Amino acid sequence: MNFTGRDFLRVLDYSEDELRYMLATAKKFKQLKKEGKNHKVFSDKNIAIIFEKTSTRTRCSFEVAGYDLGMGVTYLDPTGSQMGHKESIADTARVLSRLYDGIEYRGFDQSIVNTLAEYSDVPVWNGLTNEWHPTQALADFMTLEEHFGRLSGLTLAYVGDTHNNVANSLMAMSAKMGVNFIACGPSSLRPSDAVINECSPVAERNGCSIEVTDNIAVLDGRADAIYTDVWLSMGEDKVKWGERIELLRPYQVNAEMMNRAKPGAVFLHCLPAFHDLNTAVARDVNEKFGLTEMEVTNEVFESNRSLVFDQAENRMHTIKSVMFLTLYKKEKYNEEYN
Ligand code: CP
Ligand code: NVA
Repeated sequence: MNFTGRDFLRVLDYSEDELRYMLATAKKFKQLKKEGKNHKVFSDKNIAIIFEKTSTRTRCSFEVAGYDLGMGVTYLDPTGSQMGHKESIADTARVLSRLYDGIEYRGFDQSIVNTLAEYSDVPVWNGLTNEWHPTQALADFMTLEEHFGRLSGLTLAYVGDTHNNVANSLMAMSAKMGVNFIACGPSSLRPSDAVINECSPVAERNGCSIEVTDNIAVLDGRADAIYTDVWLSMGEDKVKWGERIELLRPYQVNAEMMNRAKPGAVFLHCLPAFHDLNTAVARDVNEKFGLTEMEVTNEVFESNRSLVFDQAENRMHTIKSVMFLTLYKKEKYNEEYN
């Protein structure tokens, strides 16, 4: 396996063994961190993290993971760089890769992060695009493996807006890891044929299934984990709230939905989640449409089946693993961390 110098743009770009190795490396780093052991291997390196959309977890995970590895980190906020306004993506990539050892990008079309990667001489990591959120899927599968002690043979049901970046990445990661994947949501929000067609042969090779349905009864007695995400993703037009609420209300993860899953099933969410009225957006939606909870009820979110904060923590450990493996040069550093 050789990770050095590679980009991390989609889960599908990595082999099953490579993804397993990424998860194993994240586990090692988590252990090192818990034991308080210094792992500042990259004190000679700096990274740039570009955010054209807002973030809490992804930004903080890249920053903390960067600092833990000894690196300098420059954060470029949605308005703070010339990229896209006065300077092309290709030029930005060529400038930043003269200065930095790695570049993270969160933003809009996948084509933007692909162009960054094409023109950059250093690894580019996808911190979320409209189509994919690969570092999220890594953290989610690390969390599932910690909880169940295995991945292969589990069934993950993603309920709600099944055509978004998180759903796509979970389908891909499930197919790679031998996890049965059920995408359950309204047919007008079904995953694209392109994503299904790319993931299906991978799932077949790994002995697991991909099911796309609008029927929640399909979940009965089958899911080891129920996952949901916001009903309207960043970058989507806010005028769609009304239409989305109408479409997605039947797919809210509530106690009744959780009871459809296996008895020991867990609840997952990438966060941020609209489970109460303690955010400006939730209050705004409440005023317009009367909902007090959206994709998940507060009861499920706060229950002991909910692993959402383990997922959030594991973002940092998995991002550290991705950066470490793609920046590590065997000849330059000692083997202690590999
Ligand atoms: N889950 C996730 O990507 O969270 P942020 O938007 O806060 O980074
Ligand atoms: N689907 C969500 C994920 C946020 C982490 C979005 O793109 O807004």
